[in-house]
Amino acid sequence: MIYYFSGTGNSLHVARQFADRLCEQLSPIVNPVLTHDKSIGLVFPVYSWGIPSVVDNFIRRFFQSAEVRSETPPAYVYALMTCGDDVGYADRVLDNALLSASGRKFDAVFSVQMPNTYVCLPGFDVDSDELCKAKLNRVQARVSEIAELVAARRKDVRRLKRGIFPFAKTYVVRPLFNRFLVTDKYFHVDASKCVSCGRCRKSCPVGNILLIPTTGGQGAEVKEVPKWMSHCSGCLACYHSCPHHAINFGNMTAAKGQYSIMKQLHG
Ligand SMILES: Cc1cc2nc3c(=O)[nH]c(=O)nc-3n(C[C@H](O)[C@H](O)[C@H](O)COP(=O)(O)O)c2cc1C
Repeated sequence: MIYYFSGTGNSLHVARQFADRLCEQLSPIVNPVLTHDKSIGLVFPVYSWGIPSVVDNFIRRFFQSAEVRSETPPAYVYALMTCGDDVGYADRVLDNALLSASGRKFDAVFSVQMPNTYVCLPGFDVDSDELCKAKLNRVQARVSEIAELVAARRKDVRRLKRGIFPFAKTYVVRPLFNRFLVTDKYFHVDASKCVSCGRCRKSCPVGNILLIPTTGGQGAEVKEVPKWMSHCSGCLACYHSCPHHAINFGNMTAAKGQYSIMKQLHG
């Protein structure tokens, strides 16, 4: 079984290709189908040179369960992390989650470079169309390479793009990022641009968005706009999926681009 988490579709795209190659089944990490397979794969995005809290929680719950712990021989456990650029020491964060749940590390961890989706700080924006296409064109070859290693149950494998200053990124920047920037309190919607299409609500992988009626004042039409419910995973799916760029994160994203994997793949 391959468990995936994906905000904007990159990790789901990789997970689907990978599952096809290995004839494996896919399950979301949110509301997972729990099985006791001999091989357990995780596919998810890197967040701030670490792992999303949804993935951390899943690992702790899933691998702590008595049935998974008592499996003999233990299942082969591996992960594919998608990233815009590099992963720092995200694999160590991942290993630590598994170590505390079941006293072991991942057998193999890989990174797959995909179009960048992080836009909420100065200097970060979506990739150009050319760069998106170049990254997406490389996915199939990379997935095949990884599938061969996984099919052969290769152990102690770390095939990752760590980038420069991995320690500082994972152990200095990440804790600050998690503390101050993984929050939905800075999301806001421009009600004059919102068309109540509900794409933001549908795209949210953790069900953190409700649509609530609002009126722009006396006589103005009543429309439904998003309200964020404080259990955000930080994936930015709501921001990227809005067809009118009506959703922004503080004042950081008004001039930033939006990413759609569907547009990049199918024009
Ligand atoms: C909150 C957040 C943090 C991110 N941090 C990193 C990072 O540390 N390194 C990196 O290379 N890409 C980073 N990215 C980019 C994503 O990892 C990358 O675009 C990923 O493929 C998105 O996957 P998804 O479409 O399945 O959500 C980040 C994206 C978000 C939304």
